[in-house]
Amino acid sequence: KKVLSVASECVPMVKTGGLADVAGALPGALSEQGVEMATLLPGYPAVMAGMGEAVEVRRYSDLFGGEARLLRGKLGKSPLFVIDAPHLFDREGSIYLGADGRDWPDNPERFAALSRVAALIAVDGADDWFPEILHCHDWQAALAPLYLRDMGNPRNVRTLVTIHNIAFQGLARRDMMERLRLPMWSYDTDGIEYWGQISALKAGLVYADRISTVSPTYAMELLTPEFGAGLDGILRKRATDLTGILNGIDLEVWKPPYRTVRGKARHRAALREELGLPEAEGPLCIVISRLTEQKGLDLLLEALPTLLECGGQLALLGSGDASLEAAFAQAARGSEHVSVQIGYDEALSRRLMAGGDCILVPSRFEPCGLTQLYGLRFGTLPLVALTGGLADTIIPANAAGLAAGVATGFQFYPVSAPVLTQEIAEMCAAFRNHALWRRMQSNAMRHPVGWETSAVAYAALFEEISTLS
Ligand code: ADP
Ligand code: GLC
Repeated sequence: KKVLSVASECVPMVKTGGLADVAGALPGALSEQGVEMATLLPGYPAVMAGMGEAVEVRRYSDLFGGEARLLRGKLGKSPLFVIDAPHLFDREGSIYLGADGRDWPDNPERFAALSRVAALIAVDGADDWFPEILHCHDWQAALAPLYLRDMGNPRNVRTLVTIHNIAFQGLARRDMMERLRLPMWSYDTDGIEYWGQISALKAGLVYADRISTVSPTYAMELLTPEFGAGLDGILRKRATDLTGILNGIDLEVWKPPYRTVRGKARHRAALREELGLPEAEGPLCIVISRLTEQKGLDLLLEALPTLLECGGQLALLGSGDASLEAAFAQAARGSEHVSVQIGYDEALSRRLMAGGDCILVPSRFEPCGLTQLYGLRFGTLPLVALTGGLADTIIPANAAGLAAGVATGFQFYPVSAPVLTQEIAEMCAAFRNHALWRRMQSNAMRHPVGWETSAVAYAALFEEISTLS
C-alpha cells in the first residue's frame, strides 16, 4: 500500500509540537506493516537544509503567487517530497508565526499550497510514485480532499484526515475562495463554511473518506460541544467514519539512560545541581510543555504552594503565552524549590525526564499527549488530567488500580485547581510510600508505549479505506 502523509512539521527537521514526532515516526512504524509511506512537507529553510540530496521532480509555474518546485529526497528510508516555494516558505522565525507573534498573514495560501500539491500528486503522481491514499494531518493539510475532489480524482485516491488538535482550524476570510482556488460549490454550511468564514479543517472533516484522531477518548470527546470547538455537529454526522488511534513514541529516541529506576538517583542529583535546586524530601516534579490555555498550567500555579508544602519541587521547561511565562518566572523567584526555564530545549527535556520523579500534565484537553508516555518509559510517574489520550494511557492509582496492583500514575477529574491540588497532595503521599512508588515505577516502565499496536491499527484502517467503493 502506498500512502502519502501530508504534514506541516516533521522531526528531525522541524518541530513545534507532538505532530512533528508523529509525522516523523509513522513511515518507519508502518513500513513493518507493509505500508510504504512517503511524506510531503513545506520547504522551510530547516527542511531544505535537512533534506540532504534532492532531485527536482516537478515544476509549478504559479503556486499561489510564485514559482515552485517539487523535490524528492529521503526521510530515513522512506520517500520525502518537499515543496520548494521561496515566496511561501523561505523565511526566518517560526513556521506559523511572524515576529509579532501572530499567524503569518499568508498562512491560508501557504498551507493551501501544501494541500494543493498533495492533491496534484494524487492526480499525477510524482516521479513515478503514485499514492493510493492521502493521509492529511491537521488543518494545514485538510484542504487536500476538497482539491482532489474538484480535480475529478481520476485515480480514485482515498483520503484520511487525522485531527491532532481541533483548536486550530485554519480559518480564512470568505473573499479568499477564489484566491485559494476553492470551488464555489463547497462554500456551504454542509461544506467548508464556518460562521461566515472558510475553515480548512472543516473541509477535511466533510470531504475525507475517513477521519481519525490520536486517542479513543478524544474521538468521543470531539462529538460533544465542550470539546468539538464548533465542529462537533459535523463530526456527529460522521461518527461512524471517525476512529481514535493512540500515538506511540520512538523507543530508540526516548530511551532512559538507566535500566532500572535505581539508576534514576544519579540523574536526579545531577539535575538538581544543574538547575540549582536544593535537596528535598518530596518528589521532583517536572513539566515540559507549550505554555497555552490547553495545557492547564494556570491550574498548576494555584496548586504550587501545596506541592511545596509537601516538600516537593517543580522544574518547568516551556514557552508560549507571555503571561504564563511571566507567572512561572515569578514563581521561580519566590521559591528556591522552583526552577523555570523558558525556551525550547530538547536535550534539557531528556535530562528532566531522567532526573524527575513525577511529570505533571494538567491539560484541559489533550488529543493524545506524548510527554506522559516518555514519563512512563522513564519511570517518571505521570500525574495527568482525566481527558483525551491522558485518560487512555495512564492507569490511575485509584482504588481499582491499587487493588489490582497495576497503577502507573495519577489522574484527576474534574479538571480544576482544587482537584489538581488534592491529587498533588495524594501523589506526594504515595511518594513517601517507597514500596508503592517502586511498584508503580516498574508498572510504568513495563507499559507498552511504542508504535506496534497503533501501526497495526493504522495499517488496518488504510486497508479498509482502500476497499471503499
Ligand atoms: P503538543 O503537541 O500539544 O504540544 P505533545 O505532548 O503531543 O503536545 O507533544 C509535545 C512535544 O514537544 C513533546 O515531544 C515535548 O517533549 C516537546 N516539547 C514541548 N515543549 C518543549 C520545550 N520547551 N522544550 C523541549 N521540548 C518540548
Ligand atoms: C497535538 C495535541 C497532542 C498530540 C499531538 C500529536 O499537538 O495537542 O495532544 O499528542 O498533536 O498527535
